[in-house]
Amino acid sequence: MVSAAGALAAPALAGPAQAAQARASAPAVGRETAEEVPVPASEPRPVPGIVKPLPAEWFVPRGTNAEMRWDAVRDADGAAAIGRHVPVERFFVRNHTGTPLIDADTWTLKLFGSGLRGAPTAQDPVEFGLDDLRALPSTRISALIECAGNARSYFLSQQDQPVPGTPWTLGGVGSAGWRGVRLADLLRAAGLTGAAVDVLPTGLDPDYVVGGTNYGPVRRPLPIAKALDDALVAYEMNGEPLTPDHGAPARLVVPGWVGIASIKWVGSIEVADHPLHSPWNTDFYRMFGPDYPPGGGAPLTSQVVKCAFELAAGARLAAGRGHRLYGRAWSGAAAVRGVEVSTDGGRSWRRAELRDEPRADDWTRWSVDWRPEGPGRYELRARATDRRGNGQPERAVFNREGYLFGAVVAHPVTVV
Ligand code: MTE
Repeated sequence: MVSAAGALAAPALAGPAQAAQARASAPAVGRETAEEVPVPASEPRPVPGIVKPLPAEWFVPRGTNAEMRWDAVRDADGAAAIGRHVPVERFFVRNHTGTPLIDADTWTLKLFGSGLRGAPTAQDPVEFGLDDLRALPSTRISALIECAGNARSYFLSQQDQPVPGTPWTLGGVGSAGWRGVRLADLLRAAGLTGAAVDVLPTGLDPDYVVGGTNYGPVRRPLPIAKALDDALVAYEMNGEPLTPDHGAPARLVVPGWVGIASIKWVGSIEVADHPLHSPWNTDFYRMFGPDYPPGGGAPLTSQVVKCAFELAAGARLAAGRGHRLYGRAWSGAAAVRGVEVSTDGGRSWRRAELRDEPRADDWTRWSVDWRPEGPGRYELRARATDRRGNGQPERAVFNREGYLFGAVVAHPVTVV
């Protein structure tokens, strides 16, 4: 299984050529809201470090990241533009630095550490090339990837609590079909022992440097129980080989957990017989603030319940007729149990119709019919519960970094 170490090129930066490409592949017409009233499309603004085109109709650039636009989930005529899974070209991207271009022919995944038989070292690891991974039994799963900071901007806009970090609205999330090797099978093939406690997948993207501190490559320990439960080393997304922005040639997919667990461009996995630490489970992706222990909460694991309308914030809907409002609901902990919608700012609620059989491994699409009483401004809200009894509060508990905003989101619309 030993082969040469993977070559890592400098991150590709999206330049003018890619902007032109993005324009060429953008939908032909200006975006309209879910109903009839058109809104102008703005020019594409590609994000440096992301390789794929980022048409402005589909994405909102956010620093090194690209947020999926929920209003693009429906076509101008209100028809669904995507199915349950988000196509790769529309999938949000969260990069700490930039997408590396990795030669899949020379790449290897290196496993080492005290939790493996013979305790192989980082210098003399057990190595798997892509063909070795493909030769192992493969599994297909559905799973959401969702940034822990998804919906962060609502701490400020709804709760008047400024927080640093990427001001995501609700589009730092996507569902896809993944194929790969169960991490459990890979670890066993590498010689897993009963002493293993934590695994530490490390990405091959450039070191994360911020505020003058070099935190090294993106890496986050994963407890062995979760690693053996349902984590996947994926090499396909939606039936195609992984693309550079989403982790080619292989990434982790850790179902239900905050997106940072799903390390992209994985180059090595340490398997240790003792707890492991990296800034991603000590400094980042933990809760700090007045409602958490002085040293911070435990490293984040499961995602909270959320709901989104497939509609632009501030959408304009035609008066004098009925509208079908669509959305999706999801939870990291369990299948969705139900969704309720309010069209009067939360005073009254009614059940939405679930359009999918709810599954723990995916989001659930829903709809509700609404005939506005007349022209004016309305505030839509949607809230979901899951089968473990988790729901969405009116207000999220503040934390310094603005993680896991799970409160009900107010969605303004204007009926004209
Ligand atoms: N893995 C590496 N190596 N580098 C990264 O910056 N970002 C993480 C995770 N894996 C990241 C990573 C975060 S925070 C998220 S939310 C997901 O990747 C995003 O995956 P996507 O870009 O395929 O949507």
